[in-house]
Order: sequence, then C-alpha cells, then structure tokens
Amino acid sequence: MKDKAYKLLLSNRRVTDGHQYTVPSPERYPYQWLWDSCFHAIVLSHFEIEAAKEELRSLVFYQFGNGLIPHIIYWEGDGPLRENLRVRVDWGKDETSTITQPPIIAEAVWRVFQKDGDADFLSEMYPHLHSFYHYLLTERDPRGNNLVSIINPYESGEDNSPRFDAPLGLGTSQPVDEENYKRRNELIEKSYLKYLEEASVMKPWFWVKDVPFNSYVVRNLEILSLIARELGKSGESKKWTGSAKKVGEAMRERMFENGIFWNTYDEDYKKIYVKTWGIFAPLYANLYTPEEAKELVKAHLLSTEEFYTEHIVPTVPRSEPSYHPSGYWRGPVWIATNWFIYHGLMNYGFKKEAEVIRESSKKLVEKGGFREYFNPETGKGLGAHNFTWGTLIVDM
Ligand code: GLC
Repeated sequence: MKDKAYKLLLSNRRVTDGHQYTVPSPERYPYQWLWDSCFHAIVLSHFEIEAAKEELRSLVFYQFGNGLIPHIIYWEGDGPLRENLRVRVDWGKDETSTITQPPIIAEAVWRVFQKDGDADFLSEMYPHLHSFYHYLLTERDPRGNNLVSIINPYESGEDNSPRFDAPLGLGTSQPVDEENYKRRNELIEKSYLKYLEEASVMKPWFWVKDVPFNSYVVRNLEILSLIARELGKSGESKKWTGSAKKVGEAMRERMFENGIFWNTYDEDYKKIYVKTWGIFAPLYANLYTPEEAKELVKAHLLSTEEFYTEHIVPTVPRSEPSYHPSGYWRGPVWIATNWFIYHGLMNYGFKKEAEVIRESSKKLVEKGGFREYFNPETGKGLGAHNFTWGTLIVDM
C-alpha cells in the first residue's frame, strides 16, 4: 500500500516554471489545491522530504498581499474557464482563486520539519504562515469575536455539505449538488471578489462559523506557536498560543450545546443543528473534555443509527434527512476526514477506535482504489480516479 501511495503521488506530480506540486486527480482536479497540497506534503514527508518542501513552497508562491493563501492555483494558466474542470468559476483573478481553504499548512510545515529538523525551511515558511493566520484572525473576524468566518462552502473543503444548506437558503433534500452548486457560485460572483484586499466588503456575505475550520485554526495556531518558539520568537509564540485559546473559548461559548459543537451563522450566531463528521473535528484540536469526548464517541461515532455504517466514517450520519450514501459530501466516506478523526481519537487515547478507522480506510482504498470518496454502506469507490487523499493512510 505504501508503495502504491508514493507511486500515485509521483504520477500526479507536475512541474511548471520550476514550481513543483501534486494535482489531486489528473482528470478531474488538474491544478494545485491548498489543503490537498498540505496532505501531500504530510504524506511525502514519509518518502521524500525535499518534494514535501517543494509542494509547500509552490503553495505559498501566490499568497496575496493581505495574507490569504488561495485555494486553487492554476499553474498552467487559462484555469478558471478550463473545460475539463467542473468548477468553471470566474474568481476575479487569472492565476488563482480568490477564496481560501482549510488552514492546515502550519501542521504540514511542522510535520516536514519534524522529519529533518531543517530550521532554514521553518524560517523560510514562517513569514507566510504568520501573514496567513494573522489574516484569518483579523480580516475574517471583523467583529472581534474570536471566531474565524468562511465566506463560501468551498472554503470548508466540503463544498456540498448539509452544514451549509440553511445559510445558502436551501432545504436538506438535494443529494445532487446542482442547486447548492449554483448558489455557491452565485455567492462568488455577487460577493466581494474584485475588492478582495478590502476586508470590509466581506462582511455581508455567507457569514458562517464552521466547526472544522475553526478547529483547524486552533490546532494550527498551537503549532504555529511551536514553530515561533523553535525560531526563538518567544513573544510571538505566546501570542499564537493566546489566540488559539481565545478561538477555543469562543467556540465553546457560541457553538457548544448538548455535548456537540455546531456551526453558526449570521450576526446572532444562529446554530445549525445538522450533524456531520464535523462534530468530531474538535477532537483534532483537543476541544472536548475527556468526558465529553468519551460520550461523543459512544453516542455518535459508535451508534449504528448514526456514524457506525458498514464502512466508516460517513461524512453525514444515517440519522440526518440529508444522508445519501453516494451524495457528494452528504454521506460518503472521504479519507481526509477519516484522517482528522483518526488523529483526534489518538489525542484522547482512543486507540482501538482509531485503529478501526484506519483499517476501514485501508480496506476502502485497497478494494475501491484511489477514489475521491466511498459509499459507506457498500464500500464502492466513487468520484474522481487516481485521487490523492487515499495516500493519507500512510500517515495513520
Ligand atoms: C473537491 C473537494 C475539495 C478538494 C478539491 C480538490 O472540490 O471538495 O475539498 O480540495 O476537490 O481535491
């Protein structure tokens, strides 16, 4: 399996004008994506450390002046309107999109550093990380409430998740992603794109506080603090820890109810009571107490009425009206979300449960191949082929 994973990363590798990166899937996703490249770097750090560094260097090459790292880079040019990609969106820029994606790049950098202790690489990446996380903590939180906002479902990385139905003004019953897709793209069009450098124009648009996204922020700010400390910047290190703590506390204050963290939206932080795998994401950032975590696992992860399907972990549980075993982000298992849950469970010492997830992920990829996602009832591989996320089992 390890060999196959590395081989896939090699065959999806591209070099454009000296910039090396990996495409998530040659036919369906032939560009560079933000969180995908973080996964690639983490997996590559097990095989080829220099390639892992190159992947991250290319990722920050087009970072915006305000700190945003764009979610897609079209290295080959003519990207936004290229025919073979379904996302034919005019983002307002040619080389990149103008929105971001889950901010796990601090973790990717740190994981690479842990392999070879190359402090020069840390120093090289630190200014990029500094301005990216600073951007998220300030421009994405203009009301100063310590929660980071996303401005489009695309930014969550889970484009069609039912967590976003209500804020998009949709009901829960469209497994096929057409209406949802249309509204996401309308949001891009009508929103702030042309004025991206001006934070204030973001305020009226799709104001969602996403649980996984904020969990990634917390965990990655803690890692950023470690990076700063390693570089001898103890003042900044303390500052990042302080910010991580504030976001964690705000999540508890505004999102937590009945043992679960819920997405919120609008100025009054309305909770969105839709269960998805995202209820487990705070485990990755140690945001549940040990007792809460235990109850969460027992009542939800291990419940056959919810997340304990034939093949685990479905992105949406059986109990949700939006559950659809082959619906895009509305039920199928994705290996990256399993990777977060796996590491989250390990944080709490739930080794047995974590191993079950690892084994289930492995089996899915062995049987179904490197597919984009998998039917949680049958295990059938679905979506894109030669999709890189399956390589994350090397890191479980
Ligand atoms: C899909 C996924 C997104 C991913 C992209 C490239 O759009 O929803 O998370 O980054 O594909 O793999």
